[in-house]
Amino acid sequence: MADVPKDLLQEIKRLEELFTVDKAKLKAITKHFISELDKGLSVEGGSIPMNPTWCMAFPTGEEQGTFLALDMGGTNLRVCEIILTDQKSEFDIIQSKYRMPEELKTGESDELWEYIADCLQQFIESHHAGEKTANFHLGFTFSYPATQDFIDHGVLQRWTKGFDIDGVEGKNVVPMLEAAIAKRGVPIKLTALINDTTGTLIASAYTDTKMKIGCIFGTGCNAAYMENCGSIPKLAHMNLPPDTPMAINCEWGAFDNEHKVLPRTPYDIIIDKDSPRPGQQAFEKMIAGLYLGELLRLVLVDLHDNKEVHIFEGQNIDKLRKAYTLDSSFLSLIEEDPFENLSETADLFQNKLSIAPNKSELELIRRLAELIGTRAARLSACGVAAIAKKKDYKTCHVGADGSVFNKYPHFKQRGAVALREILDWPDKKNPKDEDPIEILAAEDGSGVGAALIAALTLKRVKEGNMAGIGHPENYK
Ligand code: BGC
Repeated sequence: MADVPKDLLQEIKRLEELFTVDKAKLKAITKHFISELDKGLSVEGGSIPMNPTWCMAFPTGEEQGTFLALDMGGTNLRVCEIILTDQKSEFDIIQSKYRMPEELKTGESDELWEYIADCLQQFIESHHAGEKTANFHLGFTFSYPATQDFIDHGVLQRWTKGFDIDGVEGKNVVPMLEAAIAKRGVPIKLTALINDTTGTLIASAYTDTKMKIGCIFGTGCNAAYMENCGSIPKLAHMNLPPDTPMAINCEWGAFDNEHKVLPRTPYDIIIDKDSPRPGQQAFEKMIAGLYLGELLRLVLVDLHDNKEVHIFEGQNIDKLRKAYTLDSSFLSLIEEDPFENLSETADLFQNKLSIAPNKSELELIRRLAELIGTRAARLSACGVAAIAKKKDYKTCHVGADGSVFNKYPHFKQRGAVALREILDWPDKKNPKDEDPIEILAAEDGSGVGAALIAALTLKRVKEGNMAGIGHPENYK
């Protein structure tokens, strides 16, 4: 950055101070995180919901059967048919993806369920046309915070990831989906409503018994792990055997909604204020894919309008002024630009925003992308470290999925570095050695994981364990 003008260098320095989270801060965040995880399990509750999911066992690898999975993520809708074969930990899968129309995310509740049921119907018609099939057991991956009194039940606590559909929050979504399915006469029975993180945990444990935590770092972010029922005070009234496992969907995106430890910048505050649910998902809004591009955009607009440097001076930045116009893949491309003169970044700005940054501005953009991406990875590691410390996992595998984890450059490595700092691991003797806790690419949680949870649920109903089963007649 030798020839970057002084005032721009000063801005870069200011941004570095704003966005850098040092080791001491990571540790302080992790410490607070652990106490918030505990609070979420208590009777009084806290910001982090810590939702019991009624998924009450890890798979053995011997699960069998044919299942449907419906994955309602933030971006796509996916329907899968999964055959868990008689070969240990093996499965076959057929799947169809449907685009989740943008309008649906802020539209009417009925339209959402009708659209989803249409996709299910289309799937069955194209793969089982003319067949007389028995009812399919469906695992519905509904990746939003939901209170589950039963596994076939889920009251939406609040929409996240930019969704804002009236008439669903505070209601059980299962009958809404069931009614739309029944209207079409499609032979499907809902067996389990699951979160993508729980699915990720279970799918990953199916092929790797060292897996103890499932995470999503994608449009949203969250984790699930297995707790003992005896350590969940808010379930004490159910008198479940204390050593029985219960998967907890943490919903850690809500960590620090009271703004006690996270180093929020003025840009984080704007993201929150302008979101459909201000005050919610404080942690998620600093690290999830939905927000990374928006952070970059807000900083750039601020540097154009308000700061002495006036970047992109004299240029029309109308396109850049449009909220959420940049997604996290835009940041990825900036970080991946292999050229010394950042010519790919220049092309990106020209093509997407009709802006021609000068050389110094390109340097600033690149540094800013690094800062935003690094902060996201480092803060994410605090959540993983908090669960590991809470559960006293000295070594384990963590299964992670989602666009940020899979596609964002350096995310994995930056997360691993942060985990090492938080947990004070000694330096590796050999660079090839595994870290005590490794965050690895997960198996398909929302597909295979949903099928496995449906299978595990059917199995325990057969064995007479009816804990958390709402409608036993659906499990025949
Ligand atoms: C949702 C979680 C989900 C995560 C990742 C968050 O916004 O609240 O339920 O697991 O996104 O998809």
